Amino acid sequence: MDSMDFTTIQLNRHEGNALYLQLCGALERAIVAGDLVPGERLPSERDMAILLGVSRTTAVNAYRELEARGLVRGHVGRGTFVSAGPDTSGAPFAWRGKVAVGALRTEDPSLRWLAGSSGNRELISFAAAVAAPECMPVEIIGELVEGNLRRRGSAAMLLGPTEGMPELRRAIAARRQVRPEQVLVLSGAQQGLDLIARCLLDPGDTVIIDRPGYLGAIQTFRAAGAHLAGWDVERADFEELEDLILRYRPKFLYTNPTFQNPTGQTMPVPVRRELLELAARYRLPVVEDDPYSELSFDGQRVTSLYELDPYHLVIYIGTFSKVLAAGLRLGWLMASEAIIDQLALIKQRNDVSSQTLGQLVVAGFITGGHLDRHLITLRHEHRQRYRAMCASIERHLTPGQLSYLPVDGGMYLWCTLRAGVDAVDLLRAASANGVIFAIGEIFNVDGGGRHRVRLSFSSVPSEAIDEGVRRLGVLLDAQPLAHEIAGTIPIAR
Ligand SMILES: Cc1ncc(COP(=O)(O)O)c(C=O)c1O
Repeated sequence: MDSMDFTTIQLNRHEGNALYLQLCGALERAIVAGDLVPGERLPSERDMAILLGVSRTTAVNAYRELEARGLVRGHVGRGTFVSAGPDTSGAPFAWRGKVAVGALRTEDPSLRWLAGSSGNRELISFAAAVAAPECMPVEIIGELVEGNLRRRGSAAMLLGPTEGMPELRRAIAARRQVRPEQVLVLSGAQQGLDLIARCLLDPGDTVIIDRPGYLGAIQTFRAAGAHLAGWDVERADFEELEDLILRYRPKFLYTNPTFQNPTGQTMPVPVRRELLELAARYRLPVVEDDPYSELSFDGQRVTSLYELDPYHLVIYIGTFSKVLAAGLRLGWLMASEAIIDQLALIKQRNDVSSQTLGQLVVAGFITGGHLDRHLITLRHEHRQRYRAMCASIERHLTPGQLSYLPVDGGMYLWCTLRAGVDAVDLLRAASANGVIFAIGEIFNVDGGGRHRVRLSFSSVPSEAIDEGVRRLGVLLDAQPLAHEIAGTIPIAR
């Protein structure tokens, strides 16, 4: 974007308003109009004074006033930067202007919105990425909570080791046939992504990431200042991957290879092997994010990159969010002990211990055989819902309105809309009609996805799926789409 031409700012010496306030007002208007955007550097106070033929004091006072309003932020030795658009909330203190430049990279609210929407009972949410809530083993969890409190008393509520409670580390290790020392318990998989970013990335480093790929990973790596290079996992063009490695010297490759978020697709084992060979040749760490592999409809779990890796270059992240309950906030990471140790030290900085009682409960849930039984129920229900969604699409949508990739598990249908239909327009119209979903754009690091949507089938009962798809069908048939609600959904473009 072209920078603003500051010489066009008109100041009037004969006006009652002080010159510095006029200058401040002009810059504020430019920020509101988007002529100056967050992150943009203003000319130095001295240069601004020369450009406008005013005293340096006028420029200094104008910048101070803008800073007090939270619109710019000064950095010693680097200059003054636009920090945010004007705050229309009338907040008594302009906190937004105090936010560090690094934190401004974390502005996109889409993930929080997606998480929040899962609790809204008014909506038919094809956006929420959660397992069938009706299958949640609430009673068993209740018994395990009670049992742990009875047997262990207050110890069940004290802090545990940062690496995780030995009971849970052992239970995970036995399930995945690794040693407990190779397991780091996490407060959710998202924490694992954040730890890896803080451990392996410096600002300006490159990460190779699925295209399309998981929004939470995109946001976390971006917030760490990384440059993201997308790799189309479906096409799996290894020449392209090698080019990316040679061009950018990435710090790691991130992939969600099984029932991927958002496409629902699974990387075949031969492709996994080839990926590992290439990564080993270039000594490239691979981060395997794997929340969905236990959710195959037929109960088979595809061999993970971690299991296939003889080189110890894979860091594996698992989570109980998708197979048990996201609200427990428990996941885990498996890797070589050296990196586990480093990651645990970083974890300690803001999460001394993942919640103890929850860890004991999940450990009991696994060792008591409940997880395996629960997974059978969950897979069955998810398969029903998947079939219901496919049948509803067949029933309610005119052929050609929407196509999708079939899946063998997971939670998502990755759909392509008929040419000319923009996913954002459809979402606006749909949410006015009580249906929401995730738009394709938010999963793409380098553009694209405007005609794609991700429909999650797992969290909606079959009858509601049918109703939701019926409403989408009506909207897709109506031309043009009605723009009834504007501005209530934060949509990253
Ligand atoms: C690929 C992927 N990784 C990580 C997460 C976050 O999981 P958790 O709830 O355990 O933080 C999600 C959630 O949707 C996901 O899809």
